[in-house]
Amino acid sequence: MQVKASAPGKAILFGEHAVVYGKPAIAMAISKRSCVEVLESSTSNINVNIKDLGIKGCIDFNSGAIISDSPKKGILKYILESIKKVHDGSGIDIGIDVNIPIGGGLGSSAAVTVATIAAVSAYNEIDLKEEEIAKYAHEVELAVQKSASPLDTTISTYGGLIYLETNAEDIVQLDIDYDIPVVIGYTDTRGDTGKLVESVRIRRDVYPDIINPVIDSIELITEEAKQAILENDKKRIGELMNINHGLLDALGVNTKELSSMVYTARNAGACGSKITGAGGGGSIIAYCPGGTGNVISAINETENALNAD
Ligand code: PMV
Repeated sequence: MQVKASAPGKAILFGEHAVVYGKPAIAMAISKRSCVEVLESSTSNINVNIKDLGIKGCIDFNSGAIISDSPKKGILKYILESIKKVHDGSGIDIGIDVNIPIGGGLGSSAAVTVATIAAVSAYNEIDLKEEEIAKYAHEVELAVQKSASPLDTTISTYGGLIYLETNAEDIVQLDIDYDIPVVIGYTDTRGDTGKLVESVRIRRDVYPDIINPVIDSIELITEEAKQAILENDKKRIGELMNINHGLLDALGVNTKELSSMVYTARNAGACGSKITGAGGGGSIIAYCPGGTGNVISAINETENALNAD
């Protein structure tokens, strides 16, 4: 039997970092998807081939050992933790195309995790509901990264545009009848999400009276942005993004490259732009209701751009 599943990457529109402290966040799925196929192996091993990254490895299910000589084998930890949720350890071949830049703040690890859980559970004829996939996937991210909000795994499971409520108590699918025109620009530098989350935590511990209000302000921005998105209030969406970017800078996760790309996008006509994801490298998101072309060209002059839909 051969089973295939895929799951999308994501861009965070509002609320990253604050979501770690139980604040709400808004995220959207992007058109880039990680694809996973599972088939019975001719051996008793669990063989993983991440085709687009050239990573091959073998997982010893019982000991949890990952055997691979690839320097980028860290991603195999997500596969191991994912299959532990829904597999009995029999020999399978897992083929993966990640299709999303790794460490770019676009949810590659969540997409691979969700698609792996979906494919391996289907292979084993385990019927999982979306909420179970999202729960397992979040547990996998926690096991690998030690600290992660459920935001990435939730959006990768459900897709669309979601508002994750305070303390992740519920997910509201934001049903809008228009496309949100965004451009995602990614820098060559990679942010380490775990370290960035930790650096914000330290800054908050050192300056609680200053940083807690910043986090509270991001919460207010996200709540107001939800309304603005539902009303398609373009000016307000853009302004709120710009304010959110300033507060992410205050949290210490901005970089010169990200900042420069954020301003390149604004100067090229974006109504708003900000870091998306953990920062420290990775990506920016620019909101371009006036058209994405100029912003893509401006970013492309020095960097890569993904036009997400
Ligand atoms: O960099 P990403 O795409 O993994 O996004 C991280 C978002 C944070 O809020 C910084 C962390 C989290 O777990 O939500």
